[in-house]
Amino acid sequence: MSKLISIVMITLLVLSCSKNQPKNSSLNDESVIIEHKVDSLLAIMTLKEKAGQMLNIGLPAVLTGDYWDDRDSAIFDQEKFKKLLIDYAVGSIHNTPGYPAVKEEWFQIVKKIQDSAMQKTRLGIPVLYGIDNIHGANYVNGSVMFPHQIAIAATWNTELSKKSAEITSYESRAASLPWNFNPNADVAMSPLWGRIGESFGEDPYLISEMTTAYIQGSQQKGLQDSTSTAVCIKHFIGYGAGRNGKDRANALIPENSLRQYFLPPFEKAIKNGAMGVMISSNAVNGIPCHINSYYINDILKGEMKFKGVVISDFSDVEFLVGAHLSAKDKREATKMAVNAGLDLIMNPYNADVVDIIVDLVEKGEISMARIDDAVSRVLRLKFHLNLFKVPYTNPENYNEFASKKHIEANYQTASEAITLLKNTNNILPLSSTKKVLITGYSANSINILNGAWSRSFLGQDTKFNDPSKLTILEAIKKQIGTSNIEFVNGTDYLEDINSAKAVEKAKNVDYIIVCVGEIPASEKPSDINELELPKVQQELVKKLSKTGKPIILVMVQGRPRIIREIEPLVDAIVMAYLPGDEGGRAISDVLYGNTNPSGKLPYTYSKYSGNYLTYYHKKTDIRDTNWGFNGFYPQFEFGFGLSYTTFEYSNLTISTDTLVGSEELKISIDVKNTGTREGKEVVQVYLKDLVATVSPDSKKLVRFSKINLKAGEQKTMNFSLTSEDLKSIGLDNTWIIEEGEFEVQVGGNSKELIKKTFYYK
Ligand code: BGC
Repeated sequence: MSKLISIVMITLLVLSCSKNQPKNSSLNDESVIIEHKVDSLLAIMTLKEKAGQMLNIGLPAVLTGDYWDDRDSAIFDQEKFKKLLIDYAVGSIHNTPGYPAVKEEWFQIVKKIQDSAMQKTRLGIPVLYGIDNIHGANYVNGSVMFPHQIAIAATWNTELSKKSAEITSYESRAASLPWNFNPNADVAMSPLWGRIGESFGEDPYLISEMTTAYIQGSQQKGLQDSTSTAVCIKHFIGYGAGRNGKDRANALIPENSLRQYFLPPFEKAIKNGAMGVMISSNAVNGIPCHINSYYINDILKGEMKFKGVVISDFSDVEFLVGAHLSAKDKREATKMAVNAGLDLIMNPYNADVVDIIVDLVEKGEISMARIDDAVSRVLRLKFHLNLFKVPYTNPENYNEFASKKHIEANYQTASEAITLLKNTNNILPLSSTKKVLITGYSANSINILNGAWSRSFLGQDTKFNDPSKLTILEAIKKQIGTSNIEFVNGTDYLEDINSAKAVEKAKNVDYIIVCVGEIPASEKPSDINELELPKVQQELVKKLSKTGKPIILVMVQGRPRIIREIEPLVDAIVMAYLPGDEGGRAISDVLYGNTNPSGKLPYTYSKYSGNYLTYYHKKTDIRDTNWGFNGFYPQFEFGFGLSYTTFEYSNLTISTDTLVGSEELKISIDVKNTGTREGKEVVQVYLKDLVATVSPDSKKLVRFSKINLKAGEQKTMNFSLTSEDLKSIGLDNTWIIEEGEFEVQVGGNSKELIKKTFYYK
């Protein structure tokens, strides 16, 4: 078939389907039409064209220079471009040119790619561009950079997750980037794991709610809308559970834990329209996820009925050979991964897997049915995103890009995340007329506020920072003027700079604000061997405490780094997580009382590196040396966070003391602001199964709601649970409820709770 004839055919196919589309058609009609388009297109594709659709390369593979070169402009290498884009007709591209392009440059890049794919290949199929815009459209220069997911989880405000996703989508589409490798639905059980900051924390329910809200924000107007992006939830599965706490490490996850904790956020995301899933780079129980047919074919595509694209993580088919030692060469690795259900291979550097797939199919080692399934999924997503008709969008049509409104939403998210962990004698908020020493590693850095994935992968490059954004120091200066401020760096991440000078200056001030934190990092570079906050940063606090001046500790970090030794030395502790570009302002506003903090911890803050546990654990996990059950020693509990006001909980009522079958359990509780200022509180509802054959967890979060209360105001909060909430994974690895006693626990954190028992039969 000549190129011209096929391009005409595709155009007719795309147009004919849209012509037949009834006005006001429901999503279902639309899906039927799309299925028809996918089948028609698939029917005229050659094997090589199909294999091409299964390839995702990195953008630098078609640019001049070496893949990992730093660049300041994106110049296409004609030869590489022709080979990959035209001859191999690659289905998908990811990554940046090696610098953060502005939206107009992105438009030029994507336009060139799409024009070539659509006009110069036989079938004219547009390319699916995917990117890690994981906290705002961080790879589009000039976009708003939101807090990382861990901070969004700490807001316990699903509306903010939704809003951040909506803005991220809008600003991604302003750069013609329609597919986002986000959100991260990993259950982060180990505080050592470097990517805990990119996750919604340790609790499957909080993660599910935040992930779902994120998906709604990204896709709420329908994927055809040119402000929506399709999500790609990641990493399937058990990525955050590496046994040694390291990135990409083997996780040991028995079937019952898999189903109880790890699968639910993915399941809910898929029910809510996620059309992309990225496979986790690690192995679970020694089996690399990329070749785990039980996980991908049986659970993800079978049980969960996932109809979208299953994409590999970066180079992960190749890593089956070199890292996992599970395949002898790339051919075997490709065969194993595709047969396990992988649809799109992120093979950044070249198109070798296309030739491999063709050969494997020709030799009968991969069936054509498997290939058709994979390609259908890729095409389906392209049609849903309307890429055949709108392959790129004009950046000029996005007037709200980095608008005041977007910046304000970013600021609000950072503000609501900030979690006040200690406030002895109400030392906070500070008085703006008092003298203050500001010191510490994170005091004067935008990069530390933003963490990794900020214009560059590790986010350490200062040259990409927006000079209009304020560090903590700059924001406090703006707040109280410069005359009352002393600033001394104190330390770097791991080294002393001038702590002696900080101690000297501390003598003349009323308060000391010590800002500690973590170096921006992700993936392997974020691995650590000790959970303690780096010694030198702790030493700074210890030295300063000798001055007798009150100390406010501000923490800018993804992980809960251990602070056991310095906690007693400080009067207040403010956890800011990785708050993004507006973090400096948000922190300063909390310190000086313009904002009443309302964040709550989305993870358990460990006190000892040899004793870390999630808040949900088995009773035997906390057996102490005296054979008692007092061995759970968090520094701060999951769900904990103070306010500048106080809240009181009373009158917990439940609708029945015997719940039968699928009846609903109605819960109500009065929450009162008993302090003197308006504040927000997160009302948390937990459920505890008192006896179960599979040893029950200490409790599990089942509902939460963030409310605003004026001073003195009281609200009655109502929740209802169904038997679904009571279920846990039983002996046969399915969700069951055993007859017996349960306890409802309600409060403002996971420790101080009012409880009521009921019987289920
Ligand atoms: C990361 C993923 C990311 C992908 C593409 C991988 O190394 O693990 O989270 O989406 O790269 O950039």
